[in-house]
Amino acid sequence: MKLKIALLPGDGIGPEVIQQAVKILGAISKKYNHTFEYINALVGAIAIDETGNPLPDETLKICASVDAILFGAIGDTKYDNNPSAKIRPEQGLLKLRKNLGLFANIRPLITYDSLIHKSNLKEDIINGTNFVIYRELTGGIYFGEKKLSDDGNSASDNCSYTAEEIDRIAHLAFKAAFVRRKKLTLVDKANVLETSRLWRKRVLEISKQYPTITLEFLFVDNAAMQLILNPKQFDVILTENMFGDILSDEASVISGSIGLLASASIGKNTALFEPIHGSYPQAKGKNIANPLAAVLSAAMLLEHFNLYDEAEDIKSAVEKSIELNISTPDLNTTNHFSTTSVGNFLRDFILDEENTFYNKNNIDLGQSTII
Ligand code: IPM
Ligand code: MN
Repeated sequence: MKLKIALLPGDGIGPEVIQQAVKILGAISKKYNHTFEYINALVGAIAIDETGNPLPDETLKICASVDAILFGAIGDTKYDNNPSAKIRPEQGLLKLRKNLGLFANIRPLITYDSLIHKSNLKEDIINGTNFVIYRELTGGIYFGEKKLSDDGNSASDNCSYTAEEIDRIAHLAFKAAFVRRKKLTLVDKANVLETSRLWRKRVLEISKQYPTITLEFLFVDNAAMQLILNPKQFDVILTENMFGDILSDEASVISGSIGLLASASIGKNTALFEPIHGSYPQAKGKNIANPLAAVLSAAMLLEHFNLYDEAEDIKSAVEKSIELNISTPDLNTTNHFSTTSVGNFLRDFILDEENTFYNKNNIDLGQSTII
């Protein structure tokens, strides 16, 4: 298969993790004889530095011309610490999502046997958790009108949804539930918010077309608690933009690190794949960022084009690296591996190449520094 992929590494650790994802796609293309062609484009703080715009027209043009987009991360402390900044890196990502119509953000979550004992949560609570969050991505409070009064003393963000915006992602979520464990949980705040009541009404209506799916409703405050109390109850979680943002970060604790969670953002004409983590500026350039979320995002990209064996190869390599503790400091505090070494391991594992560094003895002896 031939695929044209736009690379938007962005800020902070973005370039480092995208480099590993490309390395892994290289191994896949070699093994399966695919041709992946890449075009780089600017987004985020780096794009502001170079062009004054977090999403230059050129980037949009490139994104509209490719089969898929692989996105790194966005954000820089110089903006985080300056609430008065008019131009912000995040605007680049939000505008990109909106312009490309990427309305459904899919965030799968599983646990890894070899990480369970390291979790802050109890083993028997999280063991075997497997759910996916369907987060609406181009509506809600993120995109409503924003106001700041002239005297700077009052501000508002409008939250609005249309039936159409709800319906299109609801259908995708029901379809996902159909091929999973047939349960869908709508998370909202229908006891307070009008938009949430519209979500309930539409989702209830749509559920009639999916009679084999069990539909449940949960208020977001309760959902935040249930995620930690009993995450195994969830199969597909459907929710609006901001609730999905917050709940997915919370859920990452179940897996063991936010550095593990990948996502796909699907639109009518294109799709973007990105780790759910941010730009982690403190780690920039240190070769310590966990590349697995970016690598697993590349696997989701392959799945999107029905390259399931290829995606499976990546997931097996990731599982192996975790099992062997060939991991960055977020998962391996005592004897950690660099971002690049994790990438090299995954590449070699996929290509089945003989190499000494993943000899279990070396790892146990703490020879990570020789890599
Ligand atoms: C995410 C991020 C973004 C969001 C930020 C960077 C704008 O947190 O993808 O989850 O809030 O959607
Ligand atoms: Mn987020």
